[in-house]
Amino acid sequence: MTKKRVFSGIQPTGNLHLGNYLGAIKNWVKGQEEKENFFCVVDLHSLTVPQDPDDLRFQTRSLAAWLLAAGIDPDKSTLFIQSHVRAHAEGCWLLNCITPLGWLQRMTQFKDKAAKQESVLTGLLDYPVLMAGDIIFYDADEVPVGEDQKQHVELTRDIAQRFNSLYGQEFFVIPKPVIPEAGARVMGLDNPAAKMSKSLAHLRGHAVRLLDDPKEIGRSFKRAVTDSGQEIVFSDDPEKAGVNNLLGIYKAITDKSEAEVLADFADARGYGDLKKRVAEVVIAEIAPIRERYDRLMADPAELDNLLARGAEQAAAVSNPKVDQMKEIMGLVLPVIGVQ
Ligand code: TRP
Repeated sequence: MTKKRVFSGIQPTGNLHLGNYLGAIKNWVKGQEEKENFFCVVDLHSLTVPQDPDDLRFQTRSLAAWLLAAGIDPDKSTLFIQSHVRAHAEGCWLLNCITPLGWLQRMTQFKDKAAKQESVLTGLLDYPVLMAGDIIFYDADEVPVGEDQKQHVELTRDIAQRFNSLYGQEFFVIPKPVIPEAGARVMGLDNPAAKMSKSLAHLRGHAVRLLDDPKEIGRSFKRAVTDSGQEIVFSDDPEKAGVNNLLGIYKAITDKSEAEVLADFADARGYGDLKKRVAEVVIAEIAPIRERYDRLMADPAELDNLLARGAEQAAAVSNPKVDQMKEIMGLVLPVIGVQ
């Protein structure tokens, strides 16, 4: 049986933290055997809002390095940078020419983002078409997305169907959005009522960033908000959200059951001890990832090689697909060898 093909797009924003790692990245690493995965760092999507060029360049390489360091294995999955493969920008134009403007103007993410900006870029409106191409140029069956991206995958299906019916053939696979198996939902250490957030990750005591050193991690956990009681239990009681969050982090890292986790803490001497032991497993998990990350960032040639290999594998799938599209749409393909 052939494996289902999965396409994941990740925006290169900085400040990766424990919530990103336990909520998503750790699951991707685990799921590499079951499906055929494409992981794409979507730098072209980042350009739809103003960016500092050097920062974008750094964040793009940095995210790729984190994913490799966390265990995305180039022998099992394809990891690449979107702008390295010509099919994405080129094929987006072709899709633009069959996508009604009204479909894009209705997208809620566009409306929300546009409302916050004085000057709205054309690229922001076109964002979902670029995303549709990412998915359908790979004949992806599944697209793991959060609730906020579901509408874009529905639009992707509509665009693919429209192409298929306009040109009278089953050219594109119609992809399905899948809400990934819930990874751990990690809450802010300073406020366990709200999810750990990238935009707050610079605040002391809010997040554990993958870049933090063991001392900082220890300090962040030490400061973590708990309650005035002393019961170490999993609980939905808002009062116990801090303790619940600490146990949830421990559970996600150790892959143990709730009962096993509680057994591990049966002899804990209070919350101080709980925090210390949770910090220890987090440090033990992150330290080798951080080390591999540092090594990759210190060896640009090695990272470039891995990314070149990913881009080559990705291009081998999507570039011919876009060339076929051109032909179907009536463009004259160049004769190979003529410049
Ligand atoms: N829009 C997605 C996000 O912000 C990122 C993305 C771009 C994507 N292309 C994709 C996700 C293709 C899945 C498939 O999260």
